[in-house]
Order: sequence, then C-alpha cells, then structure tokens
Amino acid sequence: MTVRAATTSAEATRDLGAAVAGLARPGDVIVLAGDLGAGKTAFVQGFGRALGVTERIPSPHFTPVHVYEGRLPIPHLDVYRLDQMSEALDLGLAEMLDEGGVVLIEWGDAILPVLTQDLREVRLGFGDEDAERSLELGPVGTRWTARRTALSAALEPWPHGGTA
Ligand SMILES: Nc1ncnc2c1ncn2[C@@H]1O[C@H](COP(=O)(O)OP(=O)(O)OP(=O)(O)O)[C@@H](O)[C@H]1O
Ligand SMILES: [Mg+2]
Repeated sequence: MTVRAATTSAEATRDLGAAVAGLARPGDVIVLAGDLGAGKTAFVQGFGRALGVTERIPSPHFTPVHVYEGRLPIPHLDVYRLDQMSEALDLGLAEMLDEGGVVLIEWGDAILPVLTQDLREVRLGFGDEDAERSLELGPVGTRWTARRTALSAALEPWPHGGTA
C-alpha cells in the first residue's frame, strides 16, 4: 500500500523522516527518489536525528557511502554518480544489512534491480509552491506489510492535499 503525504517546509520533511525512522528496523532499505533538491537529504537528516545521529548530514554526492552511528548504523548512500550497476554492487549493501544497519539510498530507484527485493521507496516531488513537496511511500516486497497501518498513522500530521 502506498502512503501519501505532503510537506510545506524542509523542517517538515525532516520531521516526516523522523516519524518514519520510528518504525525502522535493522536490515531495512529505504530508497529515496526524486529530482535534485526534492528533499531526499532533508528526509535523511530527520531520519538520522530520530535515531540519535548528532553529526551533520550533507548530501553525499562525492562520497558514495557514509555510515552514521545512531542507535543503529545508518549507511547513507548517494548513487547519482554511479553510472554502472556493478559499482553499486561493490558498495557492499549485503554487509551493511548484516551489520544491522538501516540503509538509505538517494537516487536508489536507478539501481533497483541490484538492490534487495524488499524495501520501501520514498518518492519526493515538487508541489505548486516553492516549499511544497509531495511524498509517496510505496513498498517493494512484503517487508513493510505488518507496518503499513503504523506508517499511515505516523504520517497523519502531513496529509496529502488531494483525494488520492
Ligand atoms: N518541503 C520541503 N521539503 C524538503 N526540502 C525543502 C522543502 N521546501 C524547501 N526545501 C528546500 O529544498 C532543498 C532540498 O534539498 P535536499 O538536499 O534535501 O534535496 P535532495 O533531494 O537531497 O537533492 P540532491 O538530489 O541534490 O541530493 C533544500 O534547500 C530545502 O531547504
Ligand atoms: Mg541529497
């Protein structure tokens, strides 16, 4: 089930990321999709904050992976610059998951075929106003099935304006 939400500030997108982090489990993979400046990193910043990361979290454009140490390890990947799927495989995703991390992958929709089949995709889009963003959180696989009601409830503070 896809859960929709909308935010009207970067801080709201961070708060939404924090709310999703409250449901995260070791071994989860969250793919962040959406154009440059859509708010993928803002989501990760809130997500990390909720899990106790105090380090600043920038867009990792020039370092393909940086592991934040919160209550769980949080490997943060940006695969925007990886032009070959083989490079994505070299990032060691399986090991990161074995170590109990929650892996967040900006632009991960580009490498879905080499990722685990069980993940959550967060797709961010631009709204009509400058600071508006729409978010669609869709499941791939069954890993989030038991959490779908909790996820809808967690995102209630950021209702999507439309009827969808
Ligand atoms: N509702 C909103 N949610 C998130 N960011 C917002 C929102 N409104 C405005 N912004 C601004 O949009 C920008 C989002 O930047 P961010 O680095 O999170 O995007 P990104 O998707 O990670 O981009 P990139 O593809 O370059 O990594 C920030 O400058 C932020 O202040
Ligand atoms: Mg980013």
